[in-house]
Amino acid sequence: MRGRTFVALLLLILVVGAGYWLYRGREASPPPSTTPLGARATLTPPLGLPAVPVPPDNPPTAETIALGRRLYYDPILSVDDSVSCATCHHPGLGFTDGKPVAEGVQKKTGTRNAPTVINAAYHTTQFHDGRALSLEEQAGGPMQNPIEMAHTMQGVEEKLNADPSYREAFKKAFGAERITFGMVTKAIASFERTVIAGNSPFDRWHFGKDEKAVSESVKRGFEVFRDPKKGNCAACHSVGEQNALFTDNKFHNVGVGVKLDKYGNPEFTDAGRFDVTKSEADRGAFKTPSLRNIAQTAPYMHDGSLKTLKDVIDFYVGGGNSNPNLDKEIHTLVHLSGKEREDLLAFLESLTGEFPYEVGPPVRSATPAKAPQQTAAR
Ligand code: HEC
Ligand code: HEC
Repeated sequence: MRGRTFVALLLLILVVGAGYWLYRGREASPPPSTTPLGARATLTPPLGLPAVPVPPDNPPTAETIALGRRLYYDPILSVDDSVSCATCHHPGLGFTDGKPVAEGVQKKTGTRNAPTVINAAYHTTQFHDGRALSLEEQAGGPMQNPIEMAHTMQGVEEKLNADPSYREAFKKAFGAERITFGMVTKAIASFERTVIAGNSPFDRWHFGKDEKAVSESVKRGFEVFRDPKKGNCAACHSVGEQNALFTDNKFHNVGVGVKLDKYGNPEFTDAGRFDVTKSEADRGAFKTPSLRNIAQTAPYMHDGSLKTLKDVIDFYVGGGNSNPNLDKEIHTLVHLSGKEREDLLAFLESLTGEFPYEVGPPVRSATPAKAPQQTAAR
């Protein structure tokens, strides 16, 4: 009897000990570092744009940018290998999808228009309602959104870890044996920081002082755009001294997505910024979009409700849809003559810029794509 108790005790001690040891072991192996390894790449902005803001924990490197570019165009990130970031943000369509509202896996549709990724690197918040605070945070959204890529964090990690060529590329970029979701979003964000477009005809004229870069109509249109007594557009679509983002990075209600209920009271089809702040004044307010490359990204507004730039101008001429939260900078612009409206359109069309970097799908050929310039020191 005594012998059996002793053996049982010994076994118990062994089991508890082994359990504790295993548990400690798990605690002792922290997740791999997500800090990029290589030399920091210099991102040189084109004429008309400021320096690209970069978070301290994700300096761009040639390796993370190339990896992010590959991930961006790879449907591997969606649950059924059918949808990539480029499905909804396609380079041939100004990094949007040309549809009023986005279409994800199994043709499921959302309620919002896919905004362009061009120059998103400069936004201080991401999404129409600004609910993400960085490109890194934003990139995690669509992969896990049930109607976009419908995948999970673990699912994406498992699929990528099962691919030897991705394991190798992540090891080169982050020095880690195991791919984590944090590395995926960091690489994509670094690629997005190269999807910048400037040096448009407008930039070459306004900032580059080349009088021949644009027509006289564009020059007059710019005056309509920034004159508070004319278009008053620059009140929100800001133009700076040295550069122009054409957004104040703030949220305004311009009256899109307002319909009247059966009593004639305005009703919002999308609460917009309210969802983030829970402040009544933000109901129906959306982030001011940049107007760069705007001629390429129809249809317009958070719900894709306006088909052409002419429709947008007509919408503003009408003073937006009346509602209690309508921004005080929005007035009817019926005083704009037909010619002034045409000039304003010509100005908007002059904002189509060029990309300083290769941003299309990676070509698997012997000649490497033009990579951002390397600097020796971090
Ligand atoms: C099914 C279509 C779809 C897919 C796939 C998709 N997006 Fe989007 N994207 C959208 C829509 C729609 C929004 C706006 C959603 C909102 O505001 O609620 C958006 C917003 C964004 C924004 C914010 C831009 C801004 O101006 O605020 C960025 C950046 C972005 N997506 C990048 C990506 C990346 C990177 C991927 C791949 C990981 C991706 N998207 C996959 C449809 C898509
Ligand atoms: C009170 C601030 C404000 C003023 C003034 C303003 N806008 Fe906007 N603009 C916005 C906001 C906010 C949106 C996004 C609304 C939405 O998605 O529902 C927007 C959207 C747009 C869009 C569509 C962009 C896209 O990617 O879908 C265009 C084009 C535009 N504005 C041009 C103009 C022009 C031209 C004027 C002057 C006649 C002007 N805006 C005046 C805030 C403003």
